[in-house]
Formats: sequence, C-alpha cells, structure tokens
Amino acid sequence: MEINKLEMISFRNHKKTKIKFNPGLTIIWGENGSGKTSILEAIHSLSYGKSFRTNNKTDLIKKGDKNFFIKGFFKNKNNSKNSVTLSQDTSGLKKITINKKPITKRKELLGLNNVVVFSPEEEEITKGSPINRRNYFDKIFSICSYSYLNELLSYNKILKQRNSLLRTEKNTIKKQKEIEIWNKPLIQKGFSLWSKRKAMMNEFISFFIKTVNRFDKNLKLDIKYDLKSQNEEEYNIKLIEKTDSDIKKKHTSFGPHRDDVFFFWDQKQIKNHGSQGEHKLFLALLKITEQLFLSQKTQKTPIFLIDDMFANLDKERSKKLLRFVEAFKNKEKKTQTIITTTNIVNIKENGFFLEFSEVNKHHLQINGTT
Ligand SMILES: Nc1ncnc2c1ncn2[C@@H]1O[C@H](COP(=O)(O)OP(=O)(O)OP(=O)(O)O)[C@@H](O)[C@H]1O
Ligand SMILES: [Mg+2]
Repeated sequence: MEINKLEMISFRNHKKTKIKFNPGLTIIWGENGSGKTSILEAIHSLSYGKSFRTNNKTDLIKKGDKNFFIKGFFKNKNNSKNSVTLSQDTSGLKKITINKKPITKRKELLGLNNVVVFSPEEEEITKGSPINRRNYFDKIFSICSYSYLNELLSYNKILKQRNSLLRTEKNTIKKQKEIEIWNKPLIQKGFSLWSKRKAMMNEFISFFIKTVNRFDKNLKLDIKYDLKSQNEEEYNIKLIEKTDSDIKKKHTSFGPHRDDVFFFWDQKQIKNHGSQGEHKLFLALLKITEQLFLSQKTQKTPIFLIDDMFANLDKERSKKLLRFVEAFKNKEKKTQTIITTTNIVNIKENGFFLEFSEVNKHHLQINGTT
C-alpha cells in the first residue's frame, strides 16, 4: 500500500497543503504546532473515514472556515490506483468519495487503503479505560473481516434497542417481561461476536508474543482476554441476574460491549504499573504487531505512520526500536513509512533509515504549508 499524494484544504491548521510521499520513507519535520500530526490524521481519515484524535464534528475544520476537504491518491501492490476524498462541514455532514463516486456508508471504505498509526495521541490504548482497548481491537478486526464488522454492527443494533427499552417510562413488571424477549437475540448476537472476538484475539496475541520475542527475548510482555461466559446458558443466567439493576441503571451491564483486554509487563498490569517509556514501548510493539497482523490477514501491507518518533523514549530504546522497525520493514519488503519528528538531527545523527537511497523530507513551517 502506498499514498503518493495528499491534498488538504482548511484541515486543522492547514489552509492549503499538498504533499508528495516517497514509496519508501518520508520524514516530516517541524516545530511543535506546525501541523505534523494533522497530516497523519488526514491520511488516517482517508483510510478509515474518521480521525484517530477526535470524534467532534468541528475539530478538524480550520478555525473560521466552514468546511474541510482532503484528498489522497493511493496505490496498491498490484499497481491499481484509487483516490479518496473526504469533506465535512460545520453541521457534521460528511461526504466520502472513492474514485470520484460518492459512498453512502463508511464501511465501504474499510479495508481499501490500510494504515497503522503509532502516535502519542493513541496512548490511551494502554493507559485508558476498557473502551479504548475495545475500540482498538474492534477496528483492527473489522478491517480484517467483514463478517466481524457485521457481527459487531448487528450486536450494537440490538443492544441499542434493549437499552432504549430500559430507558422508557413503563412500569417495572412490564419492562421485565419485554426485556426478557430481547434477551434471546441479544445472547445470540453477543455470543457469536464473543466467539469471533476470542478467535481473532488469540491470533493477534500469538503474533504479539512472536513480535516481542523477536524484539527482545528478555522482555516479558503478555496480553490476556477472557470471555465473561463460556456458553449461551451462562450468558442468559447473568443477564437475568442483572435485569433489576439494568432497569435501575437504564442500560445493559453485561455483554461483549463491556469487555476489557489486559496488558501485562512482567506479570503486572501495565495500566497500573507501567512507566511512560514502558507504555510507549508496549504501544510500539502492539503497533508493529498490528502492522504484521493486518498485512497477513488482508494481503495488503498497511502504510506505517509514526508520529513524534522520539517522545518518551530514551536514546537506547529509540535506537533499538528504530532498528527493529527497519528490520521488519526489510523482511516485509516494501512498507511505506511516514515519520514525523521535531528533531531531524536525531534521525540523521543516529544514521537511521540509511537503506533508503531516496527519502522525501518535508519541513513544515508553522502555518502548516510545506
Ligand atoms: N481546527 C483547527 N483550526 C486551526 N488550527 C487548529 C485546529 N485544530 C488544531 N489546530 C492547531 O494546529 C496546529 C497543528 O497541530 P498538530 O497537532 O498537527 O501539530 P504538530 O506539528 O503535530 O505539533 P507537536 O510537535 O506539538 O505534536 C496546532 O497549533 C493546533 O493548535
Ligand atoms: Mg504532533
């Protein structure tokens, strides 16, 4: 997968920016606030139809403007090309086109041009609440498998209906009866989502363990994911047990939408014990795993977007990580990589990425133009 060109109009601080990317490595450097992460955010949005930083409908539109427009030109490994545009106005109305044809559902875009983002903005995956980890894995698994995505969407639809029933003002006995009717389809969809999630997660975890071992045999990192019930009967019992409290709280408190995935560093949960650098290294190894996992599952090598390369890592870890990225890139053959940094000297001094005879370098000025 490659992005060859990006155009941005009124996106974040970019009034009008055009960038060409190298098929190998592109380095974007500039001061804090010059608009580096915004470039990666635009590429991600063209891949996924959504930012990785915000869900707010106006955040992406340049202050004072009424809409933004971004366009990317992509190329697949068999040289087939596509262009994607995304625009949005202040009311939140989003328009996406693929090869100039408008699409109506974001899911039509999923899997067309894949990217993996490694950014400090994503640190919530290891530091934040369960929803961050659920969303992270749901996104990867949905890109790999339409059936996973459909399973997720249909579970969410039934869950939404059950929750809106829990919110109505009917008397409790009537509610209890109606809730019971909803339990059956909820369990069916929920269990089927659980089984798929468990299977995908097991595969991902074995990729992760291999990646960690290749990086450093002495590191003891692990990921654990357990189903909260082993069969549909058990699921049903839990739902019935929780009916009264669900009615009180007005939402469904049991099911795959409450899953968590646990990350361990030396048998301790990184969420509660990890240092900044350990969090960053764990995230980096997750991201490398994501890259390998998506490559194998989709038969397309995602574009690797590395934001703020050296933040929170000591020099030795940075070097080791970069060498590792280089090594796996060589193994995986062509992975297009786009790196942002505030410090180009750091990359040069350490002699990173020397195997690339051609590197595109873009120096961003503070107003976001290159
Ligand atoms: N909607 C918007 N309109 C105008 N400017 C914005 C908007 N959203 C963000 N900005 C500004 O755009 C600038 C660029 O942000 P961005 O996060 O891309 O910078 P960066 O180069 O990654 O900085 P850093 O090195 O600190 O990570 C920031 O000054 C930010 O405040
Ligand atoms: Mg940034």
